[in-house]
Amino acid sequence: MCGIVGYVGNKPAVPILLEGLKRLEYRGYDSAGIALAEIGRLIVQKKIGKVSQLEKELNSFNVVAAGIGHTRWATHGAPSDINAHPHTDCKNEIALIHNGIIENYNAIRTKLEKDGHVFKSATDTEALVHLIEEMKKYSGDLETAVRLALRQVEGTYGIAVISSKEPDKIIAARKGSPLIIGIGENENFLASDAAAIVDYTRKVVYLEDGEIAVICKNSVDTKTIDNKTTEKQVEQVTIDLAQIEKGGFSHFMLKEIMEQPETLRNAMRGRVLLEEGNAKLSGLDGVKSVLENAQRIILAACGTSWHAGLVGEYMLEQYGKVSVETEYASEFRYRDPIVKPGDVVFLISQSGETADTLAALHEAKQKGAAVLGICNVVGSTIARESDGGVYIHAGPEIGVASTKAFTSQLVVLSLVTLLIARQRGMSEKEGRNICAKLLELPQKVQAILHRATEIEKIAEELKDSSNFLYLGRGYNFPVALEGALKLKEISYIHAEGYPAAEMKHGPIALIDENMPVVVIAPKDRTYEKIISNIQEVKARHGKVIAIVNEVDPRIAALADYLIQVPETADFLSPVLTIIPLQLLAYYIAVKRGCNIDQPRNLAKSVTVE
Ligand code: F6R
Repeated sequence: MCGIVGYVGNKPAVPILLEGLKRLEYRGYDSAGIALAEIGRLIVQKKIGKVSQLEKELNSFNVVAAGIGHTRWATHGAPSDINAHPHTDCKNEIALIHNGIIENYNAIRTKLEKDGHVFKSATDTEALVHLIEEMKKYSGDLETAVRLALRQVEGTYGIAVISSKEPDKIIAARKGSPLIIGIGENENFLASDAAAIVDYTRKVVYLEDGEIAVICKNSVDTKTIDNKTTEKQVEQVTIDLAQIEKGGFSHFMLKEIMEQPETLRNAMRGRVLLEEGNAKLSGLDGVKSVLENAQRIILAACGTSWHAGLVGEYMLEQYGKVSVETEYASEFRYRDPIVKPGDVVFLISQSGETADTLAALHEAKQKGAAVLGICNVVGSTIARESDGGVYIHAGPEIGVASTKAFTSQLVVLSLVTLLIARQRGMSEKEGRNICAKLLELPQKVQAILHRATEIEKIAEELKDSSNFLYLGRGYNFPVALEGALKLKEISYIHAEGYPAAEMKHGPIALIDENMPVVVIAPKDRTYEKIISNIQEVKARHGKVIAIVNEVDPRIAALADYLIQVPETADFLSPVLTIIPLQLLAYYIAVKRGCNIDQPRNLAKSVTVE
């Protein structure tokens, strides 16, 4: 959510900033801007719209100077040229970009306006740059002014600040919004996400909450906000450039859907102990006995990750025989949840940076629970702040609508379930059976992906519908929610997911000949019941799209469209049944001319509450 990039070195900054902004655009794309600091001169250019709009207007391509760039996802102040970052002080000496929310900006702004500061935008961010300007009256240097200003700020931030009075440096600071410093030779970089800088360096330093960095071309100094020097370790990022490029696909979303056989293999590599019928998850080694003795497990997450959590709840209760609750991370901390020492809280997050999920982690930690991360982004805040955890290893997910992360989360949750179930009495034989089923998944996903053209044809016929209903039971109820979410996000069609049996308690009133109803009907223990649900839909002339294991003549006679997926164990079925729903949403959105990878109003990685 909002992208930050910065450069200090001997090369012209603008091409580097632009490349970085393009790589970060999936994090926010309503406006973009850059600022360069030369001695006595600040150059600021910003524009509503995509980075390409900004690029057309830029004219400082050869300027060698410290520079910062930002791509925005609006929180305070509508998208516009003026509200775009960077923001500047009254004298046009200081430029600042910001990711997060300054919660007390109104009070700061009112006071500064009384003191004569003139504000240009409607953003919370501008208050901070004027506050730094004010603090500079007392401190003289930029670093101290930033530190003094930040002490007065409530809320969250990842910021980068430059000044024409000290043009050799970028000051960066973080609280609740990720920032990474890239270490180069006679040059250094700053970014909110490693994707922006991996073209230039793999060596990085992660800034922690409460830290400030002074980044010059030959040095990086980090301190706490109280001015105590901190020692940082230089780490290596392992992202492969091909992973963050489209590689011939028309959209990142399609590439990521198609990658799933491989991403599932990566999620399982070295972790499925077929002989022993168990899972090996090194990141949980330190908490084995905590897991074994836990009376209760809580899964906290948002959005798609929450849907994965729901499936996880069903698995863990069925096989692990442990009481599990799945919580919306955004609700968790505000409802004073009962969490006790001995409880285990898993935070599920693709980005590892979702503000609500991170807040749930803090809440659970403070109440004495063991907190464990299931994250994709290596080195992300949730991963680092957890007591242990499991990476899903899906590789960078750039498409705003999450796809491959979901299926990898499901596989990792199955492995966690297997581990806990074996601790609690599951037989080796049953464990081996589960391992075998897990290992078959990639090729089964591949078989579904081969049916993409079939699904595209269905999409063509349904693309003009205004509403969709998704129905599933048991393990496939969360899949109904996830299928509906995918469609809403990228095609802007209203869609709702329901437990199939709940339909007759209300939503059935919506069904008529214009309502497509996607029914997830694999051959599991609710199969007969779901056939009755399909009959109820057909009796009201709804159009049924059935996801089935085999062409059962009874369903074939009822459904308007059938999509086959291979059979697997009940609890693994969501890994397969979601694939056609991802493809259906994708093709419908393409046919409606929607912006697939950058759907309106959305951004990847929601780092504000
Ligand atoms: C949906 C989607 C979002 C995220 C949610 C949580 O396609 O991407 O609903 O799942 O914002 O994000 P993470 O998993 O990064 O915590």
